[in-house]
Amino acid sequence: MKTKIYKSLQKDDIEEIGKLLRCGEVIAIPTETVYGLGANGLKAEALAKIYEAKGRPSDNPLILHVSCSEEVVPLVKNVSKTAQRLMDAFWPGPLTITMPKSDNVPMKATGGLNTVAIRCPNHDICRQIIKAAGVPIAAPSANISGRPSPTTLSDVINDMDGKIAGIVDGGECKVGIESTVVEVGDNEVTILRPGAITEELLLTVVDKVHWDKAILGENVAPKAPGMKYKHYAPNAEMYTYVGEIELVSKAIEKDLINNKNKRFAIITSDETIKAIEENLVGVEHAYYYKLTYGSKNDLTSLAHNLYSLLLRCNELEIDTIIAEGVDNKGLGAAIMNRLNKASNHNIINL
Ligand code: TXA
Ligand code: MG
Repeated sequence: MKTKIYKSLQKDDIEEIGKLLRCGEVIAIPTETVYGLGANGLKAEALAKIYEAKGRPSDNPLILHVSCSEEVVPLVKNVSKTAQRLMDAFWPGPLTITMPKSDNVPMKATGGLNTVAIRCPNHDICRQIIKAAGVPIAAPSANISGRPSPTTLSDVINDMDGKIAGIVDGGECKVGIESTVVEVGDNEVTILRPGAITEELLLTVVDKVHWDKAILGENVAPKAPGMKYKHYAPNAEMYTYVGEIELVSKAIEKDLINNKNKRFAIITSDETIKAIEENLVGVEHAYYYKLTYGSKNDLTSLAHNLYSLLLRCNELEIDTIIAEGVDNKGLGAAIMNRLNKASNHNIINL
């Protein structure tokens, strides 16, 4: 299949993309979190094409994307007061809310569940496309299942060229990691997947925030079915070190010295790289790639860069990645959730 790349969008393009989506084609669209693989959320045949293009297990439900909160009404049995307050506070934005689904939503969208996950993205082009389509757009991240989610046009092209009807350029995704997914109770929520709408932010709207036990590491089935699958994995073996800059830099220096024949990459903060470089003056390493994500205190920059750094390691054919983790709070909780999975739970607290 020839995949059309839509760049520098004009009004006509938006109309064309909207129409193609409504008619059942799959088109990758930008959002503020990661690129999504969009299709008509009310059409089972269109949804089947998403699962096929991604190679995704069919019990893993999709998120429906709307252009404004009013569009939620026909998709759900009812909008609770708490859900409405969350939408008012965080939409458009990286918060996905699960609600009891109406009969309009096909089971194919929800992986057989009676709830549907919905969000309104904070990305102008994306919302214009949803509006032009006139239907909710189901969109999982636009990667092949299991791989890091795409945050740039070229990442999407690498995974999806030839498999779908089109890819829409929307620039780099600002946030860089997927939305927070919550289940809503009465004045409380449960986080099923952490993201940029953090526990602290949610607590400005509801009295209580719970965490799905599976995210906390308990051996139970996660409430978001997708969280049970292998995810975000680069091709390399990966380890995440967490600790003070001095301890992390010392541990990495040791690894670099002991692994001279490997294609080794380190993904750390500017501060840690600086410490390593100062200590390793004169030590040679044949395949030593350093990829920095910005200052250790700048979690926004880390989230923004994380997946593209992991994908860069695939391009560089790296054998081993050492990443520097962060404190497990605020946006750091979402980042550590992704690092934990990317490194196959190889988190080493120093
Ligand atoms: O930021 C995002 O959310 C991106 C962009 C494209 O919007 N989308 C995304 O979709 O990450 P996906 O399909 O890769 O992840 C959706 C997650 C999965 O873990 C899935 O299991 C969960 O949401 N989910 C979907 N519907 C659900 C439901 N009804 N109940 C519980 N979890 C649900
Ligand atoms: Mg995904």
